[in-house]
Amino acid sequence: MGAPLVIAEDLVKQYGAQTVVHGVSLYIQRGETLGVVGESGSGKSTVARMLLRLCEPTSGSVHFDGTDILHANAHHLRALRKRMQIVFQDPYAALNPRMRVRQILAEPFAIHKQPCDRAHLSVLLKEVGLDDSALPRFPHEFSGGQRQRINIARALALRPEFLVLDEPVSALDVSVGAQVINLLRDLQRTHSLTYLFISHSMPLVRYLCDRVMVMQQGRVVETGEAVSVCDHPQQPYTQALIAATPEFTHAKNAKIVPDMQRSLLGACDLGGGQHDHELG
Ligand SMILES: Nc1ncnc2c1ncn2[C@@H]1O[C@H](COP(=O)(O)OP(=O)(O)OP(=O)(O)O)[C@@H](O)[C@H]1O
Ligand SMILES: [Mg+2]
Repeated sequence: MGAPLVIAEDLVKQYGAQTVVHGVSLYIQRGETLGVVGESGSGKSTVARMLLRLCEPTSGSVHFDGTDILHANAHHLRALRKRMQIVFQDPYAALNPRMRVRQILAEPFAIHKQPCDRAHLSVLLKEVGLDDSALPRFPHEFSGGQRQRINIARALALRPEFLVLDEPVSALDVSVGAQVINLLRDLQRTHSLTYLFISHSMPLVRYLCDRVMVMQQGRVVETGEAVSVCDHPQQPYTQALIAATPEFTHAKNAKIVPDMQRSLLGACDLGGGQHDHELG
């Protein structure tokens, strides 16, 4: 295995007198999915934003493909920004309601002064399971799942290597969310993407992630292979998180985790009312 694509060391974030991230270190290998779980306010999004330098750490370092992004100049940072993107939880808020899909998808190309023609947009839409008929339409004309697909298409526009997925399906219905998760898996394989996946759902983390990092009050309390952390959590906090996910306990006890995976792979099954397999 080569050097990790993303390495963060001892990240600290303070807002005034309050420290919300207390020395978080992590690495993400190329092609890997690192999950981040923890209760609301534990600092998951803040860590993710610091990795992309959307928020300045108070101290610590972030290296992306060997480059120290916290000391990169504006020119260099701009070039790096093309290689790292973020997809947010709320597909409604993330899209400008006054822009047509054509403009939404063309925007990243314009910002980075890259050529973009109709063929580029068609390819992007096709990759996320939509077609050209979306181009002249506005975000309100789409369902939540379709809107999230448009967000993903926009994030992929400049062919990034690293995507932060900040609770990308939390706002969606279970069956629609399962389809989006499968899309993200397919895209990861096709484009050799590296993911940081933030979620409140342990079953989803177990399904999608290679490794997981558990955060509590701005600190990492446990980290390891996603399957082993989910099945054999070592820390009381992780055990409590899992216990608080009834469908996971149920899924494990009933040995339906493999079924859940099958359902996710053919998400129509999930849409057929098999709510035992609910992913939360
Ligand atoms: N701009 C800000 N100013 C002050 N405090 C902030 C700011 N952004 C985040 N915080 C605080 O930092 C802490 C961590 O927030 P963060 O959004 O990273 O949590 P999270 O784990 O992503 O939570 P959630 O699961 O609800 O998304 C919270 O206490 C939050 O109130
Ligand atoms: Mg968050």
